[in-house]
Amino acid sequence: MTLSIPRLIGHRGAARHAPENTLSGMRTGALQGALWVEVDVKITRDGVPILMHDDDVDRTSDGHGLVADMDFADIRRLDAGSWFGPDFKGEPVPTLAEAIQAATLLDINLNLEIKPCPGRDEQTAGIALSMALNLWPANRPPPLISSFSIESLAMAKVVAPHWPRGYLMDEEPADWEAIADRLGAATINVDAKKQSAESVAAFRASGRPVLAWTVNDPEQARRLFQWGVAGVFTDTPQGLYQGLTGKG
Ligand code: G3P
Ligand code: MG
Repeated sequence: MTLSIPRLIGHRGAARHAPENTLSGMRTGALQGALWVEVDVKITRDGVPILMHDDDVDRTSDGHGLVADMDFADIRRLDAGSWFGPDFKGEPVPTLAEAIQAATLLDINLNLEIKPCPGRDEQTAGIALSMALNLWPANRPPPLISSFSIESLAMAKVVAPHWPRGYLMDEEPADWEAIADRLGAATINVDAKKQSAESVAAFRASGRPVLAWTVNDPEQARRLFQWGVAGVFTDTPQGLYQGLTGKG
């Protein structure tokens, strides 16, 4: 499958401009010209796939507690916008289903990062991707499914074998290429700060495009593109575009 990766991908929506992992964030990313946005997916105690980065709700909502200990009804009552700014007061934590609907309406693609709560790696990928497969419009290109969790990616390969997978690595293990082969990874997704011309060349030599997070500085983006990075995750799609082109 040919994967058409845009240069700039909205990170957690457009995390500098709107609360991360919300529908406002996705919309802001799209309005800023991002063709893809990345969001983090986990499941509630009762198995509802939602968008959230952390294991607990404390940083990005007015609530407290672990997502794995909370039912969706509890999480839905939270305000996931006010922590970011008064304009976003009352913004709810979205479901994955709502995120897919929003992406379709906004005519953007999604990178669904499976971000399981501890011990829920397979379950999170299994539940989230079964649902996503059912909801994904047949006439749209598939999402990129990425994860730091090898178990989640292995489950993604079982549940949605034809959807491309991105192998996210913080510190790459010595056998990263064997793991990427086993997972049938379509892309290698890495921390931009840790890259060099050599590391990017090595990842690309495995035949996979390289994506790098989180890049908000045009000079850094330019350097990464020169090294052969295919696309970068950015908190500020429009700002980075303007910085790279000198245009609005
Ligand atoms: O998927 C790229 C990036 O989002 C990975 O790190 O912590 O922002 O989810 P994090
Ligand atoms: Mg992420």
